Amino acid sequence: MTAIYFSGTGNTRFCTEKFSEQAGCTQIFSIEDSSAVSEISESKDIIFAYPIYYSNLPKIVRDFIVKNSNIWREKNIFIIATMGLFSGDGSGVSARLFKKFGANIVGGLHIKMPDCIGDVKALKKSCEENLQTIQASVRKINSAAECYKNKKPTGEGLNFISHMAGLFGQRLYFYSKTKNYTDSVKIRRDVCTGCGKCEKLCPMKNIRISEGKAVSGNMCTLCYRCFSNCPQKAITILGSKVLVQHKIENYEDKL
Ligand SMILES: Cc1cc2nc3c(=O)[nH]c(=O)nc-3n(C[C@H](O)[C@H](O)[C@H](O)COP(=O)(O)O)c2cc1C
Repeated sequence: MTAIYFSGTGNTRFCTEKFSEQAGCTQIFSIEDSSAVSEISESKDIIFAYPIYYSNLPKIVRDFIVKNSNIWREKNIFIIATMGLFSGDGSGVSARLFKKFGANIVGGLHIKMPDCIGDVKALKKSCEENLQTIQASVRKINSAAECYKNKKPTGEGLNFISHMAGLFGQRLYFYSKTKNYTDSVKIRRDVCTGCGKCEKLCPMKNIRISEGKAVSGNMCTLCYRCFSNCPQKAITILGSKVLVQHKIENYEDKL
């Protein structure tokens, strides 16, 4: 059994590790690891996890699945989708793609986590409320992992009603947001010190340091990792002001 995830600000990494620990899976990889594809190829049972963006797959995740379309055939895939509030068919969006490539979908799980969009006011909660959300999610993960171990996996987000909820609840109106990579990253030159942290962390290699300042290209997958880790708070993406830099690490030692 192998677990594979993508995570911008750590929520999905955290949930994948918790689920895997409880389900007895010791092999955990990020899609950014160079060995991820060969590890998947060698494993029959896969746990695949990602965050939901606008009730859809992050572009980087969709591209990973499609680019490696030949490795999913006859794999038993359990899907975990993390979200701030609602996705409808968060696990269903990848399930339909995996099925197209010959995979067998064994179940799905939706996990509510703190919202990672730290430059837009909507959905913001206090640290205490976020901590309670994470604690409730850990309980849900533990129980779902037990079901998975006992060969009665949960099936959240996979039925027709979830599909309609995801489609009409959100995806239809926001489809363009995840269709392509974007040039949405804005970096304040007057504040940036050119420390290079964003350049190192960007999963798309979309940021580089030029003449002592960070410069962004047009290949952003909207993961908020650069935003959340900028020591100068010089980066914004969808909004224009840094309100909160969410990182799961800020909560992990309080759990
Ligand atoms: C661009 C973007 C769009 C998002 N859209 C949704 C959404 O449609 N529904 C939702 O509940 N959460 C949404 N979220 C919140 C994330 O899914 C959630 O915070 C997730 O757990 C982040 O995971 P990560 O820390 O592994 O990146 C969105 C986040 C981003 C960055």
